[in-house]
This record gives sequence, C-alpha cells and structure tokens, in this order.
Amino acid sequence: MHCMRNVTADLIWVGANDRRLAMFEGVYSVPAGVSYNSYLLLDEKTVLFDTVDKAVRHRFMENITAALDGRILDYLVVQHMEPDHSASIEEIAGKYRELKIVCNAKTLAFIKQFHHFDIDSRVIIVAENDTLVTGKHQLQFIMAAMVHWPEVMVTYDATDGILFSADAFGSFGALNGALFADEVDFSRDYLDEARRYYANIVGKYGPQVATLLGKAANLNIQMICPLHGFVWRQDLSDIRDKYDKWSHYQPEEIGVMIAYASVYGNTENAAEILSVHLREQGVRTVMYDVSVTPASEVVAAAFRFSHLVFASTTYNSGIFVTMEALLADLVAHNISNRTIALIENGSWAATSGKLMRERLEKCKNITFIENTISIKSSLKEPQLEELALMAAKIAADVNQ
Ligand SMILES: Cc1cc2nc3c(=O)[nH]c(=O)nc-3n(C[C@H](O)[C@H](O)[C@H](O)COP(=O)(O)O)c2cc1C
Ligand SMILES: [Fe+2]
Ligand SMILES: [Fe+2]
Repeated sequence: MHCMRNVTADLIWVGANDRRLAMFEGVYSVPAGVSYNSYLLLDEKTVLFDTVDKAVRHRFMENITAALDGRILDYLVVQHMEPDHSASIEEIAGKYRELKIVCNAKTLAFIKQFHHFDIDSRVIIVAENDTLVTGKHQLQFIMAAMVHWPEVMVTYDATDGILFSADAFGSFGALNGALFADEVDFSRDYLDEARRYYANIVGKYGPQVATLLGKAANLNIQMICPLHGFVWRQDLSDIRDKYDKWSHYQPEEIGVMIAYASVYGNTENAAEILSVHLREQGVRTVMYDVSVTPASEVVAAAFRFSHLVFASTTYNSGIFVTMEALLADLVAHNISNRTIALIENGSWAATSGKLMRERLEKCKNITFIENTISIKSSLKEPQLEELALMAAKIAADVNQ
C-alpha cells in the first residue's frame, strides 16, 4: 500500500525509507536508516524529481501510481545519477510511455552507461538556467557539478520558491512519518547525522558546495527538498549557516577531538590523561577509539571541532591500521583550517608521529602544536609533564 505525504498542495513526497541497509554506499553505517526522497509535482503537466534506490522500488512505484491517480507522468527530472536516486529510472520509463526525461548532457551519458533502454527519443537536454514551464510552475535548472557527482544539477521552482537540492542539505536517518525538519528536534536528534552525511558524502567538495550556495543566494528560497532526510520550510538559515561553515572547512565549535589507536591501552591512557587536563581547563573534548568508532563519525567530529589530537601506536613501522585509514579518509575529505597535536607510541622504533604528520601536512592551513609526544611502550613521568604542557598549549589556544 502506498505511503506518501504532501509537501505542498500540489507537491507530494513519493519516496521511501530503508531501515535494513547495513552500509550506505558500502561504507557508512546507517543505524537510524536512510530515506530516498522523490517528489511528484501535479501541475498541468506532472513532474517527478528523481527516483529511489532499488531496495525500496516497490513502495515507490505504488506511491507514484496512487499520487498520479490515473494521470499520465509527463516528465522525470534526473538531478543525480547515483543509483540510490536513479535505480528506478528504467522501470518508470517503461511504465509511463509518454514520459520525457529532463536532464543535462552529462546525465544523459550516465543514463546510457547505467541503463539499457532507448532514451534518445525521449530526452530533453537542459543546461544552466534553462527553464521548463509545467503550467502554473516554472522550473529553473542550476548545475551543481561535484555536489556529489559531476552531472549533478538542482532545480528551482520559481513559482513556490522551492529548491530541489539533490544530495545537498540531505541527512542520514529514516523519516519515520515526519517529513519536515520543523516536526522534529533537529538540532538535538538529527544534526549529528546531517553533519556525518555532509562530511562523508559531500565534504570533499567544499568549493563546489560553496559555488552552489552562492547561486542559491540569488534565489528566493522558501523550501528545500533534498534527496535524503527532511524537507526544510522553516529556519532555513540554520542549515544554510551550517553548510556555509562546512563548505569552507570552518569549525562549527571551539573544542578538541581526540582520536586514538591503541593495541594494549597505553596510548589510550595518554589520550585520556590529555583529555582530563583539557577538561580541567574548561576545554570541551570528545574522544574516539578509532578501532571502535566508525571512521564516518570521527570524520564528522573533525569537521565539527577546531582542534584535533591524533594518538597512535607504531605498527609494523607504520601508523596503526585503523588510524592510517582514518587519516587517509580525513585527507581525502580535504579537512583544513585545524590546529593539530600528535602523540606517538612505539616499543622499539616509534615512527607513527612522523608518519601521521606527513599525512596531515597535505591538508590546507594546518597548525601543529609542538612537540609531538613520543611514548616508549607506557607513560613515564617525563611524558606526564609533556601531556600537561600539550594540554596547556591547546587550552591557551582554545581560550584565547
Ligand atoms: C603487530 C605489531 C607490530 C608492531 N610494530 C612496531 C614497530 O614497528 N615499531 C615499534 O616501535 N613498535 C611496534 N609495535 C609495538 C607497539 O607500537 C607498542 O607496544 C605500542 O606502541 C604500545 O602502546 P599501546 O599500549 O597503546 O598499544 C608493534 C606491535 C604490534 C602488536
Ligand atoms: Fe549521491
Ligand atoms: Fe544520495
């Protein structure tokens, strides 16, 4: 049976939720599920914005049938070809024979790569600022290359001031009946997941997100309809401010994220003592064992906080595996503008501090707090002093 909700009088959410997905994109845990949003505009012409993942295709098809209520489907706007939004294109095109597919030239090439149906006879190619009038509504297409993939575009409904924002402004988490961000306590219950989504999915593409935000600044946006998570119709500046910070790699909060990797617990001990010192000086800290906490959460925390501490054992002359993976992830996501302190440990030839520094030096505008603390197996008095000094330096920087 269909399960849908009106966004406005003539716009219907026809997407679906998946609460059984183990790993989104094969790497991101989604303990609260994920929604695949698709929107159907019932104007003089009917317009579907994107489709859904194959896992929830059945419910989606039921929703469209119910929402159309016997009408034909005139247009499918394809904003993003990642299969979580495009898997059902072929089924939709096969079922609704009058349908025209509206997309840009790059999207057309991708549709041909992923699908096997005759699209050339049914495609309408659009480019930057092209418009499509569907009756009362005028749709304007805005290119948003690399706001997650190169073909991405977003659509502005100039009539109602709605931005269909593709993967931008999305969030992990199933909708659970709510559709609008103002129906839940977003900052308490969902902001962490929105940040984790942003940092991991689009965090690498800050400049491209900033370009899109610049284009959006010229539009009168009353509502944002993303492809995952809640629709925004109130306090849009809250999420726009977050995107502004995130896309410029500016920390949201002054505070310290401590991420450590420890085999026997001695490096953990150092991380914990450092955190105690920082707390005693009124500094906010969060701590993660990178062998336990999924990298996506640690990456998100690195986007959140101004100061980062990485502590790792030396492992086969290298950085401990889970820390190595985390740092690769952070560098790949272009983390910038952070102050960083390092702690290494090794029983015979500690190299992890130097190697961690080499990885992080690739990032833009990083300030290192000197010196890297080097532990030989377990903490001794001299390192306790060094930890106190490191904490004092971080606290002075944070509290300035
Ligand atoms: C598989 C393995 C490989 C290791 N390789 C090195 C190494 O190459 N150089 C070194 O100094 N210590 C090496 N160690 C020792 C650990 O780095 C050391 O015992 C550790 O830093 C102690 O801190 P922890 O209690 O936080 O794990 C290795 C340990 C293991 C288990
Ligand atoms: Fe995507
Ligand atoms: Fe997506």
